[in-house]
Formats: sequence, C-alpha cells, structure tokens
Amino acid sequence: MKWISVVGARPNFIKIAPFVHAIAAYNAANPDTPIEHILVHTGQHYDDKMSKAFFEQLNIPEADLNLNIGSGSHAQQVGNTMIAFEEVCQTHQPDLVVVVGDVNATAACSITAKKLNIPVAHIEAGLRSGDRSMPEEINRLVTDSISDILLAPDHFATDNLAREGHDQKSIHLSGNIMIDTLDVQLPKAQALPLPAGLEADNYVVVTLHRPANVDDPKKLASLVAAIMAQADAGIHMYWPVHPRTRANLAEFDQLPPLEAHPNITLTQPIGYVELLRLNLSAKAFLTDSGGLQEECCVVGTPCVTLRDNTERPVTLKAHGGTNVLSTLDTLPEDLAEALATPRKPYRPENWDGQTAPRMVQTLLN
Ligand code: UD1
Repeated sequence: MKWISVVGARPNFIKIAPFVHAIAAYNAANPDTPIEHILVHTGQHYDDKMSKAFFEQLNIPEADLNLNIGSGSHAQQVGNTMIAFEEVCQTHQPDLVVVVGDVNATAACSITAKKLNIPVAHIEAGLRSGDRSMPEEINRLVTDSISDILLAPDHFATDNLAREGHDQKSIHLSGNIMIDTLDVQLPKAQALPLPAGLEADNYVVVTLHRPANVDDPKKLASLVAAIMAQADAGIHMYWPVHPRTRANLAEFDQLPPLEAHPNITLTQPIGYVELLRLNLSAKAFLTDSGGLQEECCVVGTPCVTLRDNTERPVTLKAHGGTNVLSTLDTLPEDLAEALATPRKPYRPENWDGQTAPRMVQTLLN
C-alpha cells in the first residue's frame, strides 16, 4: 500500500506533521502490512523561516521529494506543480494521494492525481467562505469536487459537502488535524519565556498576509494607520511579518513609521512554538489567517479577523468560539471589545488531538 502526501506552504506543514506521525505509529504496530509513505514538498514556500524551521520544530522527516516550484503567479505555481507531480505519480504509482488545506499545491496535485485515475483524499475538506475572489476558495471547490475521500474538520464542513451532493459515504467528520499539532507542542510553548519587552495579557499579536489586505497600497496604509492608532493608545502590537507583507510594506513606504513606534514590534516570520507561546498570553489577535482563527478558539484568545467572511464559522463567537469578523470601519470597536473579553477556550467536536490517527484508520478502511 503506497500513499503520497503533498505539502507546499507553511500551513500545510502544521497539518501534515501529525499525519506523518500517525502513519509511523501504524507502521510500528503493523510491521507486516506497513503503509509505504512518500512525502512530496512542492517548494511553494522555500525560505528557511517559512519551511525548514517548521519541519525541524514539528519533527517532520525531510520530504522525500521537493518539486522546487518557488514563487510565481497562480498559473505558474499550479501549472509547474502539475507537470512535476505528474512525473512523480507516474514513477511511484501510488494507491492514494493525500492533499491538505487549500493552497495551490492542494488543487494542482488533486487534479493531477485524478487525471491519472489515482484516488485522492482531502484533509480539511468542506470549508467554504462563499467568496470566490479568494484563491483558496477556488482551490477548496476544485479539490473537494474531485476528491474520493473528504476528511472534514467540523459540522459546517460536512453540511457544505452534503449540500453540494457528495455521497455521505465519502464524507467523514474527522476533526481538526492542526489541533493534534497544538496539543503535542503545547508543553514546549508553555516552557518558553515571552520575548523581551512583552508582558502577559498586555499585547496584541498581528498577522496579515491575504492579497485582499496587503496588496493594495491604500488598504495596507489604512490598516497600518489603524494598527498605529492602537499602539498610540498604549497597546503593544507584536507583528511577525509575512514575506509578501514585508515586501509590500517596503514598496509602499510603510515600514519606517512602524519600525520607529515604541509600542510596535515587527519581526521576521516566527516558528510554530513561538507563535503558540505568544497566543497563550496575548490579550487578543488581529489576523487574516485561517489557522489562527482555529488556534485562538482552542486556546481561548479573543481573535479579530480582518475579513468579510470566514470558511471557519465554527470559530465564531456566535457558535461558541472567540472569533469576530472585522472591517477597517469596525476595527477600533471590535478590538476594544476583544481587549475587554476574558479568555474562553472552546473545542468543537473531534478537535481532541486524535484527528490524525482517526484519518489514517478511515483511509485504511
Ligand atoms: C500561501 C497560500 C495561502 C496561505 C499562505 C500562508 C495559496 C494560494 N496561498 O499564500 O493560502 O495562507 O501561503 O503563508 O497557495 N515568499 C517568500 N518566501 C517564501 C514564500 C513566499 O519570500 O518562502 C514571498 C514571495 O515574494 C511570494 C510571496 O511571498 O511571491 C507570496 O507567496 P505565495 O506562496 O505565492 O503565497 P502566500 O501569500 O504565502
């Protein structure tokens, strides 16, 4: 039995780690019928801080194959991945291809595998923002529409898949695999000190990287002004900056005032454990990340999401989580409310740290 799993970008690494470990555990317990597993990295994220650091920290063995796709337009990334991955599938003839999340590697490799008649399983199936201007939403729709096994994180996702007409037998409420990683890494995060200059319950963590927020000079300038206003009001804003965002801040001349502000810290992208450490003591998060909405929900940190929609409604306050959607107009009041809200950890069904073994069992069945 031969499985190929594919990763390409930072959030994929956090999701694949427990899956790789669950396969290793299965193989240790079943030496006569092992799963032969090949891990493919498309190379979409290539900086050490975006890739290698996560493999090391999350104990993921080095990828068996790296397609070295690198940066580029969506068509370049998807097209180059498909061409390279087709050769991988033809050489290795897997019984199953496993794709994760909603990045370009997810769509590219699911299409490639299906055109070679190889079954595909999708980890994190069924998430829908309803916003087709988001590249990730296109990747989700394409991948789920052709996947054979749909491993969904929550009831909203299974409902979406059922509504779209998928066979109930292909839909599985497996839980959220990222929370397996969170549970494993939690003791390491708890043992870390806070970065110098930060006091527990006295800072907000900022992360922004969506094209809709950071690619337009006016929008980015308004967001920077809003963040500076919070810092002026005395809140420490701690901001690990994504490479795409840093490039745009530099190009649009927004870096100098941010770097000069005494209540703002800009850093390079940081590791998983370091970000989890920040999450444990943050007063709030201001983000446009998908995964952080979920991690904040589980850790209990109020999360203000700078987006008009979310594919993760299970994390919203209205459904028991800690997350609110926010716009430039409502940001000051949303953040003020978040700062006044106590921590409230919440775990949706099957976000129990056992999602990866459940998924391996489902795929074996
Ligand atoms: C990708 C995913 C997004 C995910 C995000 C997490 C897609 C469509 N988007 O977006 O869903 O939330 O990863 O980070 O797959 N860059 C570097 N070094 C790197 C990687 C990127 O400098 O290792 C810079 C390059 O200038 C690149 C830009 O960041 O052009 C954007 O990278 P890209 O992988 O195209 O998209 P992300 O914005 O990271």
